[in-house]
Amino acid sequence: MTLPAWWKNSVVYQIYPRSFKDSDGDGVGDINGITEKLSYLQDLGIDIIWLSPIYQSPNYDNGYDISDYYQVMNTFGTMDDFQHLLEQAEQYRIKIMMDLVVNHTSDQHQWFIKSRATKDNQYRDYYIWRDPKPDGSAPTNWGAAFGGSTWTYDQKTEQYYLHLFSDKQPDLNWENPDLRQDVYQMMIYWLEKGVAGFRMDVINMISKDPNYPDGERLPTGFGDGGPYYFNGPKIHDYLQEMHNHVLKNYDTITVGEMPNVTVEQAKRYTDIERDELDMVFHFDHVSLGDGRLGKWSPQPWKLTELKSIFTRWQKGLDQVGWNSLYWSNHDQPRAISRFGDDSEHYRVRSGKMLATCLHMLKGTPYIYQGEELGMTNAKFESINDYRDLETLNAYNDLVNRNLCSRAEIIEAIQQRSRDHARTPMQWSNAKNAGFTTGDPWIAVNPNYKTINAQVALHDHTSIFHYYKKLIQLRKQYQVIVEGSYDILLANHEQIYAFTRTLANQTLIVVCNFSKQNITFDLPRSFDLQRANILISNLSDDPLQKDNRLIFEPYQAIVYLIEN
Ligand code: GLC
Repeated sequence: MTLPAWWKNSVVYQIYPRSFKDSDGDGVGDINGITEKLSYLQDLGIDIIWLSPIYQSPNYDNGYDISDYYQVMNTFGTMDDFQHLLEQAEQYRIKIMMDLVVNHTSDQHQWFIKSRATKDNQYRDYYIWRDPKPDGSAPTNWGAAFGGSTWTYDQKTEQYYLHLFSDKQPDLNWENPDLRQDVYQMMIYWLEKGVAGFRMDVINMISKDPNYPDGERLPTGFGDGGPYYFNGPKIHDYLQEMHNHVLKNYDTITVGEMPNVTVEQAKRYTDIERDELDMVFHFDHVSLGDGRLGKWSPQPWKLTELKSIFTRWQKGLDQVGWNSLYWSNHDQPRAISRFGDDSEHYRVRSGKMLATCLHMLKGTPYIYQGEELGMTNAKFESINDYRDLETLNAYNDLVNRNLCSRAEIIEAIQQRSRDHARTPMQWSNAKNAGFTTGDPWIAVNPNYKTINAQVALHDHTSIFHYYKKLIQLRKQYQVIVEGSYDILLANHEQIYAFTRTLANQTLIVVCNFSKQNITFDLPRSFDLQRANILISNLSDDPLQKDNRLIFEPYQAIVYLIEN
């Protein structure tokens, strides 16, 4: 039997450097701050850090707008600091995965500065320039991810350039082989330094339909360009070429961030035989409850929907490909606020329940910084406390165009803004949660006095210690890594129960996603009387006779049966 790839046994921890730890008092997290906290991460037990972008950037989108791929952002430190981080991380046996943002650059990148200067310079074709329509309007009606059109007119050369995100993030033209070679060179540069791989930003958007058709009109007034740039015609060619030029020469971990990807497509991206990527991040579960205005008009969602999404992905990638598992990241609200219950009473318990569910699924789990502390949404009431361009643009745009009221958008922002993930990491109950001695670039969540790492480390019943145990179990039980998945009680609206099976071992994972006490029966074919409890977030045993279970709100348990 061949051993599974190392990244299948691993747990990844995502760091958003701006908000993790500030070592020099300027109010912004930095690389030396991360190095300081390596022992904390080792204690937690993670194997890999995914670093959100640390490259030179004007920070219009906090580093997802890169102006130089070969430099470290000044406010984060120097290349020497990064080198030091890599060396220290190696001592702790922690690998570092970089963010690779190559769908677009910043408009301050030298390539774009040259590209926009004249029509006939060598970099013109590094970006996507098109003539106006005969009436002078944009080449297509597509709406950009951060509001407005995907096209901006440039007076100087009288053409429009494409930007699927903000106008300060022009899209790169992957049709151009020179651009592709430059990207591969840059990846090699970082791999040679010793990074372990890449999380690839919106990588399924790099191949556009060359015909640039208009899209179907959406409630926002713009056209939906999605069908013409998600999973576009040459995406697999590009990824295979990247693999061939770069990845195949290194033992890497790769995960492609992919909005709008189906299981069938993900199989093609992650099938080991096809030499593309190891994993993808799909958005199906984090889009649950999106309404007319997407995330800005959130609706209630049902557990049966969540279960069917996870089941579809678990089953779909069981034999071919591999899943990534996440509740949250720097673009999502806090997991407990979104999927659990962030009230004082149930925060800890529901946080552990969510962790149990995710870490027992098949795939590589990703923990977002602060998730292991049970951090919650900040719910700032004033728009002045938010910093994220997506949030601010949506606030201005949707209200100005009368698509929703001010009260409605603030409520949506309190639920779904990306800034909830970006408030400073809560290290202690000291000023600014111990994140900085200066003025933090975004306010600290006021609950830091009770929710912080110092308290969590000292409390053996904390969410932190529970995560630690889940990570250790993954190292001990191969069934957690490789066992095949089956759902139980598929139609139950409160209980998520599933099994994982490998050889003579079966795990039975049962989670109550509701605030209610629930009584239910598991199939008699599982002999629960002789099962061991691997982990549980409550001390009481919920088992009655004949496989009847009585679960308290947000209770979670994992049974192991060995035949
Ligand atoms: C990805 C990133 C997000 C960024 C966007 C544009 O979705 O995760 O933070 O704003 O791409 O780069």
